[in-house]
Amino acid sequence: MKADILLGLQWGDEGKGKIVDVLTPRYDIIARFQGGPNAGHTIEFDQKKFILHTIPSGIFNASTINVVGNGVIIDPFIFNRELDMLKASGIHAENNLMLSKKAHLILPSHRLLDAAYESAKGKAKIGSTLKGIGPTYTDKTARNGIRMGNILRDDFLKRYRDLKEKHLQILKAYEMDLENHELDGLKFKTYEEKWFDALDRMKSIRIIDSEYFINQSLNSGKSLLAEGAQGTMLDVDFGTYPYVTSSNTVTAGVCTGLGIPPHQVGEVLGIFKAYCTRVGSGPFPTELDNTEGQKLRDEGHEFGSTTGRPRRCGWLDLVALKYAVMINGVTRLYMMKADVLNSFAMIKVGTSYYLNNEKIDYVPFEASYEKLKPEWLELEGWHTNINEIRNEKDVPKALDRYVKYIEKQTGVPVSMISVGPDRSQIIHRS
Ligand code: GDP
Ligand code: IMO
Ligand code: MG
Repeated sequence: MKADILLGLQWGDEGKGKIVDVLTPRYDIIARFQGGPNAGHTIEFDQKKFILHTIPSGIFNASTINVVGNGVIIDPFIFNRELDMLKASGIHAENNLMLSKKAHLILPSHRLLDAAYESAKGKAKIGSTLKGIGPTYTDKTARNGIRMGNILRDDFLKRYRDLKEKHLQILKAYEMDLENHELDGLKFKTYEEKWFDALDRMKSIRIIDSEYFINQSLNSGKSLLAEGAQGTMLDVDFGTYPYVTSSNTVTAGVCTGLGIPPHQVGEVLGIFKAYCTRVGSGPFPTELDNTEGQKLRDEGHEFGSTTGRPRRCGWLDLVALKYAVMINGVTRLYMMKADVLNSFAMIKVGTSYYLNNEKIDYVPFEASYEKLKPEWLELEGWHTNINEIRNEKDVPKALDRYVKYIEKQTGVPVSMISVGPDRSQIIHRS
Protein backbone atom coordinates (compact mmCIF):
# COMPACT_ATOMS: atom_id res chain seq x y z
CA MET A 1 0.00 0.00 0.00
CA LYS A 2 0.99 3.59 -0.44
CA ALA A 3 1.06 5.93 2.55
CA ASP A 4 -1.36 8.87 2.59
CA ILE A 5 -0.41 12.17 4.15
CA LEU A 6 -2.50 14.78 5.92
CA LEU A 7 -0.90 18.14 6.51
CA GLY A 8 -1.69 21.80 7.16
CA LEU A 9 -1.40 24.29 4.31
CA GLN A 10 -1.32 27.50 6.35
CA TRP A 11 0.36 28.51 9.64
CA GLY A 12 -0.80 25.52 11.71
CA ASP A 13 -3.99 24.87 13.71
CA GLU A 14 -6.00 24.17 10.58
CA GLY A 15 -7.83 21.31 12.33
CA LYS A 16 -5.48 18.43 11.53
CA GLY A 17 -6.29 16.57 14.77
CA LYS A 18 -10.01 16.52 14.02
CA ILE A 19 -9.59 15.18 10.49
CA VAL A 20 -7.00 12.54 11.42
CA ASP A 21 -9.46 11.30 14.05
CA VAL A 22 -12.27 11.25 11.46
CA LEU A 23 -10.14 9.31 8.97
CA THR A 24 -8.54 6.91 11.47
CA PRO A 25 -11.06 4.06 11.04
CA ARG A 26 -9.86 3.78 7.41
CA TYR A 27 -6.21 3.21 8.40
CA ASP A 28 -4.17 0.53 10.17
CA ILE A 29 -1.44 2.96 11.22
CA ILE A 30 -1.34 6.69 12.04
CA ALA A 31 2.18 8.16 12.25
CA ARG A 32 3.54 11.55 13.24
CA PHE A 33 6.63 12.43 11.16
CA GLN A 34 7.94 15.77 12.47
CA GLY A 35 7.56 18.45 15.10
CA GLY A 36 7.09 17.81 18.78
CA PRO A 37 4.99 19.17 21.62
CA ASN A 38 4.79 22.58 19.94
CA ALA A 39 1.81 20.94 18.22
CA GLY A 40 -1.63 20.99 19.81
CA HIS A 41 -4.17 18.83 17.99
CA THR A 42 -7.77 19.02 19.21
CA ILE A 43 -10.25 16.17 18.94
CA GLU A 44 -13.88 16.43 20.04
CA PHE A 45 -16.53 13.72 20.27
CA ASP A 46 -19.28 12.66 22.71
CA GLN A 47 -19.05 16.07 24.42
CA LYS A 48 -15.41 15.35 25.27
CA LYS A 49 -12.42 17.37 24.16
CA PHE A 50 -8.80 16.19 23.99
CA ILE A 51 -5.66 18.08 23.02
CA LEU A 52 -2.73 15.95 21.87
CA HIS A 53 0.82 17.25 21.56
CA THR A 54 2.99 14.26 20.63
CA ILE A 55 0.70 11.25 20.54
CA PRO A 56 -0.87 10.77 17.09
CA SER A 57 -4.57 11.63 16.72
CA GLY A 58 -5.45 8.02 15.82
CA ILE A 59 -5.20 7.02 19.48
CA PHE A 60 -8.98 6.98 20.05
CA ASN A 61 -9.46 3.97 17.80
CA ALA A 62 -8.37 0.86 19.69
CA SER A 63 -7.51 -1.13 16.55
CA THR A 64 -5.16 1.46 15.04
CA ILE A 65 -1.41 1.47 15.71
CA ASN A 66 0.03 4.93 16.42
CA VAL A 67 3.67 5.55 15.60
CA VAL A 68 5.81 8.48 16.72
CA GLY A 69 8.36 8.54 13.91
CA ASN A 70 12.09 9.29 13.82
CA GLY A 71 11.48 12.86 12.62
CA VAL A 72 9.55 13.75 15.79
CA ILE A 73 11.17 15.13 18.93
CA ILE A 74 9.85 13.94 22.27
CA ASP A 75 9.66 15.56 25.69
CA PRO A 76 9.02 12.69 28.15
CA PHE A 77 7.49 15.07 30.71
CA ILE A 78 4.86 16.32 28.27
CA PHE A 79 4.39 12.85 26.80
CA ASN A 80 3.72 11.42 30.23
CA ARG A 81 1.14 14.09 30.97
CA GLU A 82 -0.60 13.17 27.75
CA LEU A 83 -0.65 9.48 28.68
CA ASP A 84 -2.22 10.42 32.04
CA MET A 85 -4.81 12.65 30.41
CA LEU A 86 -5.87 9.80 28.12
CA LYS A 87 -5.81 7.27 30.96
CA ALA A 88 -8.21 9.44 32.95
CA SER A 89 -10.70 8.89 30.12
CA GLY A 90 -10.11 5.16 30.05
CA ILE A 91 -7.74 5.16 27.07
CA HIS A 92 -4.63 3.07 27.59
CA ALA A 93 -2.50 4.62 24.90
CA GLU A 94 0.52 2.43 25.64
CA ASN A 95 -1.28 -0.57 24.13
CA ASN A 96 -1.28 0.75 20.57
CA LEU A 97 1.60 3.16 20.60
CA MET A 98 5.13 2.74 19.21
CA LEU A 99 8.06 5.14 19.38
CA SER A 100 10.97 5.31 16.98
CA LYS A 101 14.42 4.56 18.42
CA LYS A 102 15.68 7.41 16.26
CA ALA A 103 13.32 10.10 17.58
CA HIS A 104 15.34 12.73 19.46
CA LEU A 105 14.76 13.71 23.07
CA ILE A 106 13.95 17.21 24.26
CA LEU A 107 16.01 17.71 27.44
CA PRO A 108 14.88 20.17 30.13
CA SER A 109 17.95 22.26 29.27
CA HIS A 110 16.78 22.50 25.62
CA ARG A 111 13.77 24.36 26.95
CA LEU A 112 16.04 26.73 28.90
CA LEU A 113 17.97 27.45 25.71
CA ASP A 114 14.73 28.11 23.82
CA ALA A 115 13.69 30.66 26.45
CA ALA A 116 17.14 32.31 26.50
CA TYR A 117 17.34 32.59 22.70
CA GLU A 118 13.82 34.00 22.45
CA SER A 119 14.33 36.64 25.10
CA ALA A 120 17.67 37.65 23.55
CA LYS A 121 15.88 38.26 20.25
CA GLY A 122 13.84 41.02 21.86
CA LYS A 123 11.41 42.53 19.38
CA ALA A 124 12.50 40.08 16.66
CA LYS A 125 11.35 37.10 18.70
CA ILE A 126 9.83 34.17 16.79
CA GLY A 127 7.00 33.66 19.25
CA SER A 128 8.20 30.12 19.90
CA THR A 129 6.01 27.81 21.97
CA LEU A 130 9.09 27.50 24.25
CA LYS A 131 8.96 23.71 24.16
CA GLY A 132 12.64 23.42 23.22
CA ILE A 133 11.95 22.71 19.54
CA GLY A 134 14.65 24.87 17.91
CA PRO A 135 17.50 23.84 20.27
CA THR A 136 16.62 20.12 20.03
CA TYR A 137 16.60 20.10 16.21
CA THR A 138 19.81 22.15 16.33
CA ASP A 139 21.48 19.45 18.43
CA LYS A 140 20.12 16.80 16.05
CA THR A 141 21.71 18.38 12.98
CA ALA A 142 24.85 19.34 14.90
CA ARG A 143 25.13 15.64 15.80
CA ASN A 144 24.95 16.21 19.55
CA GLY A 145 21.45 14.84 20.15
CA ILE A 146 20.22 11.99 22.32
CA ARG A 147 17.68 9.61 20.84
CA MET A 148 14.96 7.38 22.26
CA GLY A 149 17.11 4.32 21.53
CA ASN A 150 19.79 5.74 23.84
CA ILE A 151 17.57 5.60 26.92
CA LEU A 152 17.95 1.84 27.08
CA ARG A 153 21.75 1.96 27.02
CA ASP A 154 24.25 2.03 29.88
CA ASP A 155 25.89 5.27 28.85
CA PHE A 156 22.61 7.22 28.79
CA LEU A 157 23.18 9.12 32.03
CA LYS A 158 26.64 10.18 31.01
CA ARG A 159 25.38 11.41 27.65
CA TYR A 160 22.58 13.29 29.38
CA ARG A 161 24.99 14.99 31.81
CA ASP A 162 27.44 15.90 29.03
CA LEU A 163 24.79 17.47 26.86
CA LYS A 164 23.20 19.31 29.77
CA GLU A 165 26.63 20.65 30.73
CA LYS A 166 27.16 21.87 27.17
CA HIS A 167 23.84 23.71 27.39
CA LEU A 168 24.70 25.26 30.75
CA GLN A 169 27.95 26.55 29.29
CA ILE A 170 26.05 28.23 26.47
CA LEU A 171 23.53 29.65 28.94
CA LYS A 172 26.32 31.47 30.80
CA ALA A 173 26.32 33.97 27.94
CA TYR A 174 22.68 34.81 28.70
CA GLU A 175 21.31 36.55 31.72
CA MET A 176 19.06 33.83 32.98
CA ASP A 177 18.12 33.02 36.53
CA LEU A 178 18.48 29.27 36.16
CA GLU A 179 17.50 28.48 39.75
CA ASN A 180 14.17 30.25 39.49
CA HIS A 181 13.31 29.86 35.82
CA GLU A 182 10.10 27.85 35.64
CA LEU A 183 9.20 25.16 33.13
CA ASP A 184 5.47 24.44 33.10
CA GLY A 185 5.19 26.05 36.53
CA LEU A 186 8.03 24.02 38.05
CA LYS A 187 11.53 25.03 39.11
CA PHE A 188 14.19 23.47 36.88
CA LYS A 189 15.31 20.88 39.43
CA THR A 190 11.79 19.61 40.09
CA TYR A 191 11.02 19.58 36.38
CA GLU A 192 14.18 17.58 35.71
CA GLU A 193 13.23 15.00 38.37
CA LYS A 194 9.80 14.58 36.87
CA TRP A 195 11.35 14.38 33.41
CA PHE A 196 13.43 11.39 34.57
CA ASP A 197 10.40 9.70 36.17
CA ALA A 198 8.56 10.14 32.89
CA LEU A 199 11.49 8.72 30.97
CA ASP A 200 11.33 5.57 33.10
CA ARG A 201 7.67 5.13 32.24
CA MET A 202 8.47 5.44 28.55
CA LYS A 203 10.63 2.34 28.77
CA SER A 204 7.41 0.33 29.01
CA ILE A 205 6.29 1.55 25.58
CA ARG A 206 7.49 -0.27 22.47
CA ILE A 207 10.59 1.54 21.20
CA ILE A 208 11.16 0.22 17.70
CA ASP A 209 13.07 0.54 14.42
CA SER A 210 10.08 2.39 13.02
CA GLU A 211 11.39 2.62 9.46
CA TYR A 212 11.43 -1.19 9.26
CA PHE A 213 8.04 -1.52 10.92
CA ILE A 214 6.48 1.02 8.57
CA ASN A 215 7.96 -0.33 5.35
CA GLN A 216 7.17 -3.92 6.26
CA SER A 217 3.61 -2.90 7.13
CA LEU A 218 3.12 -1.04 3.82
CA ASN A 219 4.62 -3.93 1.86
CA SER A 220 2.26 -6.39 3.54
CA GLY A 221 -0.78 -4.34 2.51
CA LYS A 222 -1.36 -2.26 5.64
CA SER A 223 -2.63 1.30 5.25
CA LEU A 224 -0.95 4.30 6.83
CA LEU A 225 -1.82 7.96 7.29
CA ALA A 226 1.04 10.35 8.14
CA GLU A 227 -0.16 13.16 10.42
CA GLY A 228 1.52 16.50 9.90
CA ALA A 229 2.12 19.08 12.61
CA GLN A 230 2.37 22.85 12.16
CA GLY A 231 1.75 23.98 8.57
CA THR A 232 3.47 24.65 5.25
CA MET A 233 4.03 28.34 5.93
CA LEU A 234 5.92 27.34 9.11
CA ASP A 235 8.22 24.93 7.22
CA VAL A 236 11.90 25.63 7.92
CA ASP A 237 12.71 25.79 4.17
CA PHE A 238 9.53 27.04 2.54
CA GLY A 239 7.81 29.01 5.30
CA THR A 240 8.19 32.66 6.23
CA TYR A 241 11.77 32.17 7.47
CA PRO A 242 13.01 32.96 10.11
CA TYR A 243 9.50 33.05 11.58
CA VAL A 244 9.05 29.31 11.21
CA THR A 245 9.46 26.12 13.18
CA SER A 246 12.60 23.96 12.90
CA SER A 247 11.34 21.00 10.88
CA ASN A 248 10.08 20.17 7.40
CA THR A 249 6.33 20.23 7.74
CA VAL A 250 5.73 19.45 4.05
CA THR A 251 5.23 16.18 2.15
CA ALA A 252 8.99 15.71 1.76
CA GLY A 253 9.22 15.58 5.58
CA VAL A 254 7.33 12.27 5.52
CA CYS A 255 10.16 10.60 3.58
CA THR A 256 12.82 11.69 6.07
CA GLY A 257 10.59 11.63 9.15
CA LEU A 258 9.30 8.09 8.69
CA GLY A 259 11.66 6.53 6.15
CA ILE A 260 8.97 6.17 3.48
CA PRO A 261 10.36 6.27 -0.08
CA PRO A 262 8.78 8.93 -2.38
CA HIS A 263 7.18 6.37 -4.71
CA GLN A 264 5.28 4.98 -1.72
CA VAL A 265 3.42 8.27 -1.16
CA GLY A 266 -0.26 8.06 -2.09
CA GLU A 267 -2.86 10.77 -1.49
CA VAL A 268 -1.76 14.10 -0.05
CA LEU A 269 -4.65 15.58 1.90
CA GLY A 270 -4.16 19.29 2.42
CA ILE A 271 -6.24 21.04 5.03
CA PHE A 272 -6.91 24.74 5.32
CA LYS A 273 -9.23 27.04 7.22
CA ALA A 274 -11.84 28.98 5.24
CA TYR A 275 -9.88 31.99 6.51
CA CYS A 276 -6.35 32.25 8.00
CA THR A 277 -4.76 32.35 11.42
CA ARG A 278 -1.25 32.59 12.75
CA VAL A 279 0.07 32.40 16.31
CA GLY A 280 3.47 33.91 17.05
CA SER A 281 5.39 36.53 15.10
CA GLY A 282 6.07 36.89 11.40
CA PRO A 283 4.51 38.02 8.16
CA PHE A 284 0.82 37.48 7.55
CA PRO A 285 -0.23 39.47 4.48
CA THR A 286 -4.00 38.98 4.81
CA GLU A 287 -4.09 39.72 8.56
CA LEU A 288 -6.98 41.85 9.82
CA ASP A 289 -5.91 44.07 12.65
CA ASN A 290 -9.46 45.39 13.11
CA THR A 291 -12.97 44.47 14.28
CA GLU A 292 -13.37 41.91 11.46
CA GLY A 293 -10.22 40.14 12.69
CA GLN A 294 -11.60 40.25 16.23
CA LYS A 295 -14.89 38.78 14.98
CA LEU A 296 -13.01 35.88 13.34
CA ARG A 297 -11.15 35.29 16.61
CA ASP A 298 -14.37 35.34 18.64
CA GLU A 299 -16.44 33.18 16.27
CA GLY A 300 -13.58 30.73 15.68
CA HIS A 301 -12.41 30.62 19.33
CA GLU A 302 -8.96 31.33 17.97
CA PHE A 303 -6.72 30.79 20.97
CA GLY A 304 -3.65 28.51 20.81
CA SER A 305 -4.20 24.87 21.82
CA THR A 306 -0.65 24.63 23.21
CA THR A 307 -0.02 28.09 24.64
CA GLY A 308 -3.48 29.68 24.98
CA ARG A 309 -2.23 32.76 23.11
CA PRO A 310 -4.78 34.64 20.96
CA ARG A 311 -4.28 33.72 17.31
CA ARG A 312 -3.90 36.47 14.73
CA CYS A 313 -6.74 36.27 12.21
CA GLY A 314 -7.26 37.27 8.59
CA TRP A 315 -8.90 36.30 5.31
CA LEU A 316 -7.86 33.38 3.13
CA ASP A 317 -4.51 33.93 1.42
CA LEU A 318 -4.89 32.29 -1.97
CA VAL A 319 -1.31 32.99 -3.06
CA ALA A 320 0.04 31.12 -0.02
CA LEU A 321 -2.56 28.35 -0.46
CA LYS A 322 -1.55 27.74 -4.09
CA TYR A 323 2.11 27.74 -3.03
CA ALA A 324 1.37 25.11 -0.36
CA VAL A 325 -0.56 22.99 -2.89
CA MET A 326 2.47 23.13 -5.20
CA ILE A 327 5.13 22.30 -2.60
CA ASN A 328 3.14 19.40 -1.13
CA GLY A 329 1.61 17.94 -4.30
CA VAL A 330 -1.83 18.11 -2.67
CA THR A 331 -4.36 15.73 -4.26
CA ARG A 332 -7.40 16.62 -2.11
CA LEU A 333 -8.32 19.68 -0.13
CA TYR A 334 -10.33 19.78 3.11
CA MET A 335 -11.85 23.11 4.07
CA MET A 336 -12.07 23.64 7.82
CA LYS A 337 -14.12 25.94 10.05
CA ALA A 338 -16.45 27.13 7.29
CA ASP A 339 -19.09 27.62 10.03
CA VAL A 340 -17.00 30.40 11.57
CA LEU A 341 -18.01 32.58 8.59
CA ASN A 342 -21.77 31.95 9.12
CA SER A 343 -22.56 35.52 10.08
CA PHE A 344 -20.23 37.43 7.75
CA ALA A 345 -22.12 39.41 5.09
CA MET A 346 -19.07 39.45 2.81
CA ILE A 347 -16.06 37.16 2.63
CA LYS A 348 -12.77 38.35 1.27
CA VAL A 349 -9.92 36.44 -0.36
CA GLY A 350 -6.39 37.71 -0.92
CA THR A 351 -5.82 36.84 -4.59
CA SER A 352 -2.38 38.40 -5.21
CA TYR A 353 0.13 40.64 -3.46
CA TYR A 354 1.51 44.08 -4.07
CA LEU A 355 5.27 44.24 -3.48
CA ASN A 356 6.65 47.76 -3.88
CA ASN A 357 3.58 48.68 -5.95
CA GLU A 358 4.12 45.74 -8.28
CA LYS A 359 1.36 43.15 -8.43
CA ILE A 360 2.66 39.58 -8.05
CA ASP A 361 0.96 36.19 -7.79
CA TYR A 362 3.69 34.18 -6.09
CA VAL A 363 5.20 34.03 -2.60
CA PRO A 364 8.35 36.13 -2.94
CA PHE A 365 11.59 35.75 -0.97
CA GLU A 366 10.73 39.17 0.42
CA ALA A 367 7.60 37.73 2.06
CA SER A 368 9.64 37.44 5.24
CA TYR A 369 10.79 41.03 5.28
CA GLU A 370 8.56 43.40 3.36
CA LYS A 371 4.97 44.23 4.07
CA LEU A 372 3.04 42.60 1.26
CA LYS A 373 -0.36 44.13 0.58
CA PRO A 374 -3.02 41.77 -0.72
CA GLU A 375 -5.38 42.42 -3.59
CA TRP A 376 -8.85 41.47 -2.40
CA LEU A 377 -11.73 39.69 -4.04
CA GLU A 378 -15.10 40.01 -2.29
CA LEU A 379 -17.60 37.20 -2.27
CA GLU A 380 -21.06 37.13 -0.78
CA GLY A 381 -21.45 35.29 2.54
CA TRP A 382 -24.13 32.65 3.24
CA HIS A 383 -25.74 34.35 6.29
CA THR A 384 -26.97 31.08 7.68
CA ASN A 385 -25.99 28.51 10.27
CA ILE A 386 -24.34 25.56 8.54
CA ASN A 387 -23.27 23.63 11.66
CA GLU A 388 -26.01 21.00 11.30
CA ILE A 389 -25.61 20.43 7.56
CA ARG A 390 -24.24 16.98 6.71
CA ASN A 391 -25.38 16.54 3.14
CA GLU A 392 -23.67 18.04 0.14
CA LYS A 393 -26.96 19.01 -1.49
CA ASP A 394 -27.90 21.22 1.49
CA VAL A 395 -24.79 23.40 1.21
CA PRO A 396 -25.87 27.06 0.75
CA LYS A 397 -25.21 28.43 -2.74
CA ALA A 398 -22.79 31.11 -1.54
CA LEU A 399 -20.64 28.53 0.27
CA ASP A 400 -20.74 26.27 -2.77
CA ARG A 401 -19.55 29.19 -4.92
CA TYR A 402 -16.70 29.90 -2.45
CA VAL A 403 -15.59 26.25 -2.49
CA LYS A 404 -15.79 25.99 -6.29
CA TYR A 405 -13.79 29.20 -6.64
CA ILE A 406 -11.00 27.69 -4.50
CA GLU A 407 -11.12 24.45 -6.49
CA LYS A 408 -10.78 26.38 -9.74
CA GLN A 409 -7.90 28.48 -8.44
CA THR A 410 -5.93 25.57 -6.97
CA GLY A 411 -6.92 22.88 -9.48
CA VAL A 412 -7.57 20.48 -6.58
CA PRO A 413 -10.98 19.12 -5.44
CA VAL A 414 -12.32 20.05 -2.01
CA SER A 415 -13.44 16.68 -0.64
CA MET A 416 -14.70 17.74 2.77
CA ILE A 417 -16.09 20.84 4.41
CA SER A 418 -15.86 20.93 8.18
CA VAL A 419 -18.73 22.76 9.91
CA GLY A 420 -17.91 22.46 13.61
CA PRO A 421 -15.34 21.01 16.02
CA ASP A 422 -17.11 17.71 16.62
CA ARG A 423 -16.12 14.53 14.84
CA SER A 424 -19.60 14.35 13.27
CA GLN A 425 -19.61 17.88 11.82
CA ILE A 426 -18.42 17.07 8.31
CA ILE A 427 -19.87 17.44 4.83
CA HIS A 428 -18.38 14.98 2.34
CA ARG A 429 -18.30 16.17 -1.29
CA SER A 430 -18.36 13.80 -4.20
P1 GDP B 1 -4.55 21.39 14.63
O1 GDP B 1 -3.35 21.85 15.35
O2 GDP B 1 -4.42 21.56 13.14
O3 GDP B 1 -5.00 20.00 14.99
O4 GDP B 1 -5.73 22.38 15.07
P2 GDP B 1 -6.04 22.89 16.57
O5 GDP B 1 -6.65 21.79 17.32
O6 GDP B 1 -4.86 23.57 17.15
O7 GDP B 1 -7.07 24.05 16.27
C1 GDP B 1 -8.25 23.82 15.59
C2 GDP B 1 -9.41 24.29 16.50
O8 GDP B 1 -10.58 24.40 15.72
C3 GDP B 1 -9.73 23.30 17.59
O9 GDP B 1 -10.21 23.99 18.70
C4 GDP B 1 -10.84 22.44 16.97
O10 GDP B 1 -11.70 21.86 17.93
C5 GDP B 1 -11.58 23.47 16.16
N1 GDP B 1 -12.21 22.99 14.93
C6 GDP B 1 -11.79 22.05 14.07
N2 GDP B 1 -12.62 21.99 13.00
C7 GDP B 1 -13.55 22.93 13.19
C8 GDP B 1 -14.67 23.38 12.42
O11 GDP B 1 -14.94 22.93 11.31
N3 GDP B 1 -15.41 24.40 12.95
C9 GDP B 1 -15.13 24.97 14.16
N4 GDP B 1 -15.90 25.96 14.59
N5 GDP B 1 -14.09 24.57 14.90
C10 GDP B 1 -13.31 23.58 14.42
P1 IMO C 1 -0.04 22.58 15.26
O1 IMO C 1 0.51 21.21 14.93
C1 IMO C 1 0.51 26.89 15.17
C2 IMO C 1 4.59 28.41 15.71
C3 IMO C 1 4.89 29.16 16.98
C4 IMO C 1 5.97 30.10 16.49
C5 IMO C 1 6.75 29.23 15.50
C6 IMO C 1 7.98 28.57 16.10
O2 IMO C 1 -0.91 22.61 16.44
O3 IMO C 1 -0.64 23.18 14.03
P2 IMO C 1 8.41 26.60 17.81
O4 IMO C 1 7.84 26.32 19.16
O5 IMO C 1 8.15 25.53 16.81
O6 IMO C 1 9.85 26.98 17.86
O7 IMO C 1 7.65 27.92 17.30
O8 IMO C 1 5.83 28.24 15.07
N1 IMO C 1 4.01 27.06 15.91
C7 IMO C 1 2.72 26.75 15.69
N2 IMO C 1 1.70 27.53 15.33
N3 IMO C 1 0.34 25.56 15.32
C8 IMO C 1 1.38 24.77 15.65
O9 IMO C 1 1.28 23.43 15.68
C9 IMO C 1 2.63 25.36 15.90
N4 IMO C 1 3.84 24.88 16.26
C10 IMO C 1 4.68 25.93 16.26
O10 IMO C 1 3.76 29.86 17.44
O11 IMO C 1 5.41 31.17 15.78
MG1 MG D 1 -2.82 23.19 16.88
